[in-house]
Amino acid sequence: MIQLLVTSALLLLQNFLILSQIFAEEASTVHIVYMGDKIYHNPETTKKYHHKMLTSLLGSKEDAKTSLLYSYKHGFSGFAARMTKSQAEDIAKFPEVVSVIPNGIHKLHTTRSWDFIGVHHSSAEIVFDESNSGGGTIIGVIDTGIWPESASFNDEAMGNIPSRWKGVCQVGENFNSTSCNKKIIGARWFLKGINDHTKKLILGNNGTSEYLSARDAIGHGTHTASTAAGYFVENANYKGLASGLARGGAPLAHLAIYKVCWDVPVGHCSDADILKAFDMAIHDGVDVLTVSLGIDIPVFSYVDHRDTIAIGSFHATSKGITVVCSGGNSGPISQTVTNTAPWLITVAATTIDRTFPTAITLGNNLTLWGESVDNGKHNLGFVGLTYSERIARDQSDDLAKDCQSGSLNKTKAAGKIVLCFSISDQQDIVSAALTVKKAGGIGLIYAQRHEDGLRECSILPCIKVDYEVGTQLLTYIRRARFPAARLSLPKTVIGKWISPRVASFSSRGPSTMSPTVLKVYIAQP
Ligand SMILES: *[C@@H]1O[C@H](CO)[C@@H](O)[C@H](O)[C@H]1NC(C)=O
Ligand SMILES: *[C@@H]1O[C@H](CO)[C@@H](O)[C@H](O)[C@H]1NC(C)=O
Ligand SMILES: *[C@@H]1O[C@H](CO)[C@@H](O)[C@H](O)[C@H]1NC(C)=O
Ligand SMILES: *[C@@H]1O[C@H](CO)[C@@H](O)[C@H](O)[C@H]1NC(C)=O
Repeated sequence: MIQLLVTSALLLLQNFLILSQIFAEEASTVHIVYMGDKIYHNPETTKKYHHKMLTSLLGSKEDAKTSLLYSYKHGFSGFAARMTKSQAEDIAKFPEVVSVIPNGIHKLHTTRSWDFIGVHHSSAEIVFDESNSGGGTIIGVIDTGIWPESASFNDEAMGNIPSRWKGVCQVGENFNSTSCNKKIIGARWFLKGINDHTKKLILGNNGTSEYLSARDAIGHGTHTASTAAGYFVENANYKGLASGLARGGAPLAHLAIYKVCWDVPVGHCSDADILKAFDMAIHDGVDVLTVSLGIDIPVFSYVDHRDTIAIGSFHATSKGITVVCSGGNSGPISQTVTNTAPWLITVAATTIDRTFPTAITLGNNLTLWGESVDNGKHNLGFVGLTYSERIARDQSDDLAKDCQSGSLNKTKAAGKIVLCFSISDQQDIVSAALTVKKAGGIGLIYAQRHEDGLRECSILPCIKVDYEVGTQLLTYIRRARFPAARLSLPKTVIGKWISPRVASFSSRGPSTMSPTVLKVYIAQP
């Protein structure tokens, strides 16, 4: 009897396994079928060929039509379609197929430049080059789209749209033909890949602030486009700081926008969409492509087709387009650089020679210096200064040291400037500010390891200091009877800093793929 029971349990288990196998087999997901250089000159012939292949794989023309997301037919040949794992294995055996890869998700690089937007790209000191400021050049931007009303995209001084341009201004949500001009000469958006991945989160328009168009809901693409080709904007500033003339590297270049990254929680940009953007950019006739997105380490080999930026840029480069990519934001750890294929230019982030020193005057008249971009609310006069561990709610834990949430005693923090010491990555200045604010504190001095980013706390004045200054402050607090301090407003100081240095947050080498090569760049013949 017992024997029998065990046997039937095994049978059940087996049945279950078989069922789940069938289930797994039947789930169709997006795969990219990459076929290398195109054989046919006519894109329509290439597309028909893709349809034929899919029809023979799936068994019907209807199925082929509904499963196809994109046909890549301008810069190279291939397509993205929904298929099961076994169908993907089958089509990989077709002789013309180079490889079949599942649709992956990339993330935006330079997201930390949020900290710098309005701060970093407004230097008038950059020397003019002899390239006519990029006049007549078309720069394609594969990113999160664009905010066309930004003053950087004013076209008053722009030359005519080059006659070789074959792109379009694709209309959509809050984006019509007037959103393009002689500066933004083209705009397209691609979301079939990410939409399949996120179960139509974007199309449902729920939980996202996205626009179904090339309009930028994140700000990243607007930042990269204006950095590359923004026109001069006089007196640009960030709340009065860093005032000056904002301009891109090539202020007279035209822009072509390819939106592939979307404001969705799972990641931002899908391989299928990225490849289509490369395909269309090659078709449209861009001269340069800028791509500030990628993956984290471990990297793929340069010829691994799962690296769609490497594939897309390879075909673009072979058509004479220069492709410029970001190296990533995984610094200051070494060996973190990505997008290092030898045919593209890999760019790191650097510091510039501008700082925002902010004075902290102590009750004993000693002045110490930190950095801040919090402007306009620092007029506190002399107020009490304390160290977070002294006003911990619970002396038995370590949470108050770096001002973890809820760690401060409200009675003791009320009305004071609080010094916090951060030695881990568990805490950052913005959430420490929130802790201090919630406890009734009115200012934050945050001692942390060196980092080139500067963030605004907005809810109360916050000043970042290094450990040396942090220790001097702490010594003062421990000695003084009634420790007090006055926080001044930040100033903009130019030219007193050694720069450029690779910014602390920027990914850096050596490359994990070719450690002995600093960076290879194959120039166009
Ligand atoms: C195009 O968009 C602009 C700005 O969003 C708007 O002012 C204008 O009325 C729109 N034009 C048309 C024809 O829809
Ligand atoms: C988005 O909207 C669709 C239909 O409008 C709904 O079925 C789906 O559950 C929603 N998703 C989320 C994450 O809210
Ligand atoms: C601080 O400086 C002010 C003005 O320079 C002076 O009047 C005051 O006596 C000084 N206080 C101390 C404690 O040194
Ligand atoms: C906070 O400090 C005050 C004053 O020393 C004390 O009376 C109070 O009990 C403390 N609150 C907490 C939650 O520990």
